Amino acid sequence: MTVSPGSDRVAADPATRRSNDADLAADVRTTKSTDTPTAPPSTLTEPLELGPDTLSPREFYLLLTALVVPRPVGWISTVSAAGVRNVAPYSYFNLMGSEPFYCAFGSTGEKDSLKNIREVPEFVANIATMDLLEKMSFTSGDFPRDQDEFAWAGLTPVPSVKVRPERVGEAKAHLECEVKHIYEDGRTHIVIAKIVHVHVSPSVWKNGRVDPKLLDPVGRLSGSMYASLGDLYSVARPDMKQVQGPPSPDVMPRATRR
Ligand SMILES: Cc1cc2nc3c(=O)[nH]c(=O)nc-3n(C[C@H](O)[C@H](O)[C@H](O)COP(=O)(O)O)c2cc1C
Repeated sequence: MTVSPGSDRVAADPATRRSNDADLAADVRTTKSTDTPTAPPSTLTEPLELGPDTLSPREFYLLLTALVVPRPVGWISTVSAAGVRNVAPYSYFNLMGSEPFYCAFGSTGEKDSLKNIREVPEFVANIATMDLLEKMSFTSGDFPRDQDEFAWAGLTPVPSVKVRPERVGEAKAHLECEVKHIYEDGRTHIVIAKIVHVHVSPSVWKNGRVDPKLLDPVGRLSGSMYASLGDLYSVARPDMKQVQGPPSPDVMPRATRR
């Protein structure tokens, strides 16, 4: 369907919409007067078909970040050449490879974390967990670059092993990373880094591995909404020795609740 100017706006909870708007000031540029003043319709009678230019950047951002959920939060700590600590959450974040191990995060605009990384090309991805949700969110504030965000949020800086930025002492796991490349397109900056050291707290360790319930990671939804882990399931990968004969989903391994 085509979304035309003047379409009904999404019938969102006004409080949610307000907090989304506040977040967007930080996450994505607000709509310029030259942007097409379109918004998604409040109800759909057929599938929505649209490209990045159909909606304003703000509305397209809201749509995509409501679809790709939940997103892990890399709570990125960096340091400037002058030695000022910075920590800020990035939910455009994930592992990106295993041989060797890579992770990446995306900055919309030239934020302090990115500026620091240009000066000191290293960071720590502190794993954001539910017990630290409010502190993590607080560090998304646009604090002046010469101010220590660890101090603002009451976080304990702890030296890292292989990189110069310190890590968040309260976090239960940390990935120390060396930046290898920054891919840039407009205001999108994707920081690609090799993982060179990992810390894991005993508090999340059970039976020889990280227990997801003990870790209790933050999942970011759209705007200011978050989710914690719900029910856990396991499903075996297909055993290709068993998958033979005419194509059929009958041999598909089934999911079990844990
Ligand atoms: C949970 C959460 C996730 C965020 N993810 C991103 C992101 O992936 N990319 C981005 O550019 N901004 C993101 N932001 C906004 C930044 O954290 C915010 O702009 C912050 O001020 C950046 O800090 P810095 O300038 O110290 O780097 C996020 C905010 C929150 C609360």
